[in-house]
Amino acid sequence: MTKKLWGGRFKKKTDPDFFEFQKSIQYDYKLAKYDIYHSQVHIKALKAAGMLTLAEAKRIDTALNHILVQVLSGGFKPDLSCEDIHTDIQNKVEKAVGKLAAKLHTFRSRNDQVAFDTRYYCEDTMKSTATLLKTLILSLESLADKYKGSLIPGYTHTQRAQVVYFKDYLGAFSLMLGNDCQRIDKFLKGNSICIGSGALAGQYSFLLDKYKKILKGSKIKIPENSLENVSNRDFVIEALSILSILQMHLSRLAEDFILYSTKEFNYLDLPEEFCTGSSLMPHKKNPDFLELVRGYTGRIYGNLISVLTMMKGLPLTYNRDMQLDKEPLFSSVEIVQGELKILARFIKGIKLNKAAIDRALEDESLYAMKLMEYLVREKKVAFKDAHDIVGKLIRYSEENDRKIKDIEAGSLKKISPHLDRKIIERVFR
Ligand code: ARG
Repeated sequence: MTKKLWGGRFKKKTDPDFFEFQKSIQYDYKLAKYDIYHSQVHIKALKAAGMLTLAEAKRIDTALNHILVQVLSGGFKPDLSCEDIHTDIQNKVEKAVGKLAAKLHTFRSRNDQVAFDTRYYCEDTMKSTATLLKTLILSLESLADKYKGSLIPGYTHTQRAQVVYFKDYLGAFSLMLGNDCQRIDKFLKGNSICIGSGALAGQYSFLLDKYKKILKGSKIKIPENSLENVSNRDFVIEALSILSILQMHLSRLAEDFILYSTKEFNYLDLPEEFCTGSSLMPHKKNPDFLELVRGYTGRIYGNLISVLTMMKGLPLTYNRDMQLDKEPLFSSVEIVQGELKILARFIKGIKLNKAAIDRALEDESLYAMKLMEYLVREKKVAFKDAHDIVGKLIRYSEENDRKIKDIEAGSLKKISPHLDRKIIERVFR
């Protein structure tokens, strides 16, 4: 057990099993960068308030910068024996500057730090998620462009409905993902990263005034209400909600592509480099990537529900329960970003199987609406009557196992006096 940020009032040593149980360093090390930013603002304020000399502030700042460089270059090694990232950084600073480090935490609370760090993490990762989303939208658009003129059967109830352009089908997904981007933009506009809550009651005004000066023009703010700031995790829930909706879109896209790549549909040829084989059946080409995207939906929704439930009924203000927001948050961000990264490249490798699509497009029922249009617009038949006529025509074709385009004039007339060979040939080619 390494040095802790507390302990003076305790006579007994912390139970080692309990200490392990309550630690968060194994995941909150991902907040290192933001925790350093918090410390850098704080030491500036301490210096301005005369609580650190210029030389002392410089020494601590240099030590923090040194750790920051390691974080940014990927070389940061968290000390997993620490309680959390706040303690780890404090100890690392102490290693560099000795006893002086004891002044770094002056009048500061981890409750303020963790709210600041987590909000900052959400800010950064929501921004990078939006960037990945935009790349995915571009790759959907370039696939749509490649197959500009191509038609596919469109479905409702997973039943063939009407012919649509493949570009429009893809465009529907682009639009949904565009809406996800807008949700992120809205989130970013409302997200205010705050410093200065203390444990709950607010930082001392002699430091708060300094924060204000230091932060002029920056995105970071003084909390409007410090009690709210340390007890609010709405931003985590919002981020997880946005990711859940986005994940639902990815899952629907994955499901469609899995279906359309089966031998039964065979509309899409999926890029081999993202598929796997079977250890038993040599002919298999399995869409595992898409299946995992679909499968992860449970995890992403679960993460949202887990934080919502954890926050429910928590008394104001900070409670340790809130430490449990981080794993679900990090998990959702990492899964969704991983999916987006691969999906953008996956989409580029998709090929349309023209022959199979053309075969499907021969299904005459796909053109029922075209005949409806003719009857209603040119023959002035009432819509409901036209619906009935076309329905009977399709039933006749099925019962007599005969293509609509081959039904002879006499039978057409019997179905409806509005039907004749000319119109049938025009609609059903
Ligand atoms: N690991 C804690 C969290 O994530 C940091 C804050 C701890 N504060 C405290 N008073 N014990 O919420």
